[in-house]
Amino acid sequence: QKLRRQIENIVLIGMPGCGKTSLGKQLAEKLGKQFVDMDVEIEKTAGKSIPEIFAESGETRFRNLETEIAQKLGKEKEQVIATGGGAVLRPENMKALGQNGRIVFIRRPLGKLAMDGRPLSKDLEALKNMYADRLPLYERYGRLAFDSEEGIEKSAAKLLSLLE
Ligand code: S3P
Repeated sequence: QKLRRQIENIVLIGMPGCGKTSLGKQLAEKLGKQFVDMDVEIEKTAGKSIPEIFAESGETRFRNLETEIAQKLGKEKEQVIATGGGAVLRPENMKALGQNGRIVFIRRPLGKLAMDGRPLSKDLEALKNMYADRLPLYERYGRLAFDSEEGIEKSAAKLLSLLE
């Protein structure tokens, strides 16, 4: 049991700007696991920034890269993985990431999502629709739903105790 906990991946899902990256970093440190940000892995693979991939190659290309990375990371162990907000759109991503991992939905109210520099969440109306479309997916795949309304420190500690 203890060994399983140690080697498992923790996979964070949730809306853009819900705190997956900042929470994930803290959590990884506390659990002694490696922190991996899927968006960063995608950028490394493509040799371009996310907005560049969207602008130059389109969303489908981005989603294909995302699936490629999900399949790669899903085979590895001892990671805290911050997914992109849209990783739940393809069931195969969740299947791959869930193999060695526990999937946690980081829930945060719409008005509190950070929206800086994110190509798919530029206007509030679009973000609202996105939230409505995706909420059922986050709820379906997240084995544990977690509210991140407090500060990052407090949230990370709370999440940690929930995971034990
Ligand atoms: C996306 C969210 C982004 C990034 C890309 C697409 C989405 O990640 O993967 O811009 O579809 O919600 P964050 O959730 O880290 O912002």
